[in-house]
Amino acid sequence: MVEDPRKQTWRAPQPAETEARTGVRGALGGSRLFDQPQYRAEAEAFRAFVDAPGPLAVEVGFDHGMRLLDLARTQPEVRWLGLEVREARVLDVAPHCPPNCHVWRADARTVFRGLMPAARVSRVDVLFPTPWWDERKRDKRLLLTPAFVADVARTLAPGGVLHVATDVGAYFEHVSELFATWHPAPPPPMGTVLSRRERVCARDGLPVWRGTWTP
Ligand SMILES: C[S@@+](CC[C@H](N)C(=O)[O-])C[C@H]1O[C@@H](n2cnc3c(N)ncnc32)[C@H](O)[C@@H]1O
Repeated sequence: MVEDPRKQTWRAPQPAETEARTGVRGALGGSRLFDQPQYRAEAEAFRAFVDAPGPLAVEVGFDHGMRLLDLARTQPEVRWLGLEVREARVLDVAPHCPPNCHVWRADARTVFRGLMPAARVSRVDVLFPTPWWDERKRDKRLLLTPAFVADVARTLAPGGVLHVATDVGAYFEHVSELFATWHPAPPPPMGTVLSRRERVCARDGLPVWRGTWTP
C-alpha cells in the first residue's frame, strides 16, 4: 500500500465568511463566466439539456469520463450531465456521449450556484474530489464546502441524493460534518466501470470512504 503522507495533515479550510451568495470565490473563469456573450451558447446548451424531461444525474469531476459514459449507456432513461474543469478531458469525452449525456467544461460550484434549476437533480456523484494539498488553493477551490452543500440542496429533487467517495480520511470527516443535518441514504446504482481513482485505490489496497446523503 502506498499512502500519501499529506493525508495525515489535511485540514478543511475555514468557511469563507466573505463568500457572497451570488459569487463563488476562486471559480474557474469567475462565477459570472456564463453571463458573458461568448459563453452564452454553452449555457443555453446546458439549459436545453437539463430542461428536457427525465431524471437528471450529475457527475462532478469525471476526468477521463469512462464511468460517466458507462452510466449513460447503461441507464438510458437518465440524463447524465458531466462537469469537469479540465478542458482536454471534456473535449476527449464529448464525441462519445450518447444523446442522454452532456459534458461541460464548467466549475461545478458555478453551475450549482446560479445555473442549475431548483429541485431538478436526482443524483450528484462526486468521486474523489480534489483535496488541494496546497492550502492556499484549498482555501479557494475546495468543492465540498457549506456553500456548495447549500447550493446542491436547492437543486435536488425530492428524494435526490449526493454520493461522495474519497481516499483522504480527513476530507471524509469534513464531508460527514457538512452533511450532519442531511439523512444517510442508500448509494445510487453504480455501473461496473470504475473511475480512475477507484481503480488506483483498488489496485493499491488504499482505504476508501463513501457516503450518500439526502437533505
Ligand atoms: C482527483 S480527480 C478525480 C477524478 C475522478 N472522479 C476519479 O474518481 O478518478 C478530481 C477531478 O475533479 C475535477 N474538478 C476539480 N474541481 C472541480 C470543480 N469545481 N468542478 C468540476 N470539476 C472539478 C478535476 O479536474 C479532476 O478531474
